[in-house]
Amino acid sequence: MSTTKFASRIGLIAATVGSAVGLGNVWRFPAEAQQNGGAAFLLVYIAWVFILGIPAMLVEFSVGRAGEGDAVTSMRNIGASRPWQRVGILGILAGYMILGFYMVVAGWTLEYMWQSITGALYSVETPGQPLKELFMTRMDSYIGGTWWPLICTWGVIILTGLILANGVQKGIERISNVLMPMLVVILLLFMVVALTLPKAGEGLAFFFDPDFSALSPQVALNALGQAFFSLSLGMGVLVTYASYFPKDTNLTRTAVTVSGLDLAVSVLMGMIIFPAVMSFGLQGEEMKGATLVFVTLPEVFAHMDFPCFWSTIFFLLLSVAAITSCISIAEVAVVWVSDRMKISRKKACVLALAPLLIISGACSLSQGPWSDFTICGLTIFNLFDTVSSNILLPIGALLLCVYVGWVHAPGLMKKELTNNGSLRCRMLPLIIFLVRWIVPVLILMVLIAGFI
Ligand code: TRP
Repeated sequence: MSTTKFASRIGLIAATVGSAVGLGNVWRFPAEAQQNGGAAFLLVYIAWVFILGIPAMLVEFSVGRAGEGDAVTSMRNIGASRPWQRVGILGILAGYMILGFYMVVAGWTLEYMWQSITGALYSVETPGQPLKELFMTRMDSYIGGTWWPLICTWGVIILTGLILANGVQKGIERISNVLMPMLVVILLLFMVVALTLPKAGEGLAFFFDPDFSALSPQVALNALGQAFFSLSLGMGVLVTYASYFPKDTNLTRTAVTVSGLDLAVSVLMGMIIFPAVMSFGLQGEEMKGATLVFVTLPEVFAHMDFPCFWSTIFFLLLSVAAITSCISIAEVAVVWVSDRMKISRKKACVLALAPLLIISGACSLSQGPWSDFTICGLTIFNLFDTVSSNILLPIGALLLCVYVGWVHAPGLMKKELTNNGSLRCRMLPLIIFLVRWIVPVLILMVLIAGFI
């Protein structure tokens, strides 16, 4: 059994929030909100975080702290039969799919940060060229190219490996303690800038004034996928992190803090991006995935004083958010490999991350030279994104809730949420009710409705 623990409560929160806050908040959330009706999406999203996210997070925390291992080992340690242990394997698989495209986007952010530092991103070659066209061409060459995106992606994989090789306290915890405060400072800085822009009010109205006619099962499904993705649920990342929680950690409080901060960052991002986009008259532009962050935002920066400065800090923010999430997803695979094969953490890092050189490589190329190759109308990149967030994560969370709520002998959550009876947890009956009845049924309903 693992005896590694996080060294301090601050470090524990920094690492767990670091996992949750990532590209999902900065890159995926605003794009999803824009495509799914703005405020209406936000409302459903908030509902999912509280009704499904927090209970599902507590289930992962309980399994991890009781089982003291990665997703598979923890299930085994708490006495799950073999078929149920496979839920952990499903998680590891989903992890590779997510890392497949996540590392690629993280690579782009590094590339954009570098191009902002050197100023190349903002150098105008043809005077009078519309900015949108300029940044579209830039995106095509930075993201759609062959070698640079590939090298940046591999760079992120190696960086992740180097951090993880240092272990839980000296790697994950130490890096999170440095990067998370940095993220908060940059975020607040942008917040002040965005809210003092000329048309901030209109942007905020789009984001906060709901148009209920925009609601549909598809919106509910997309909000569900986004909630699981953003809270790092459904694939055992939080099971693994919780195995590093000391026995006296208050799990309920931790889950509420982590989910609250993650939600706050997403809402803040909306409050930064929509006013900015509105103020520079770019709202008609497609905000789909990559274009929002890699075309529309550079356009916004180009309208401001010191574009290179703002752009550098923004992509720094994005890289910081990305890397602390990358390490969390990869950690599950690393611990699992090291456990199974009884090898050292360093060797396991190499072995677990090596396949990604190819998987992420394929994702990277699917945005450029291989973009014509599609499965069910989706590029490899989009396929990995959709299948993992909208299918694998909800199913993973569903199975884990069914296991803990119905199959495992009752009492696991009670024991874990009250720290063996030494802590009062007034929410316990509500949480157990949600885990047994509401979470599985709602996830199933949304999955079915979203696919018919
Ligand atoms: N939550 C992260 C984000 O918002 C991504 C992430 C980290 C993740 N770990 C995860 C997603 C585990 C799903 C499962 O960017």
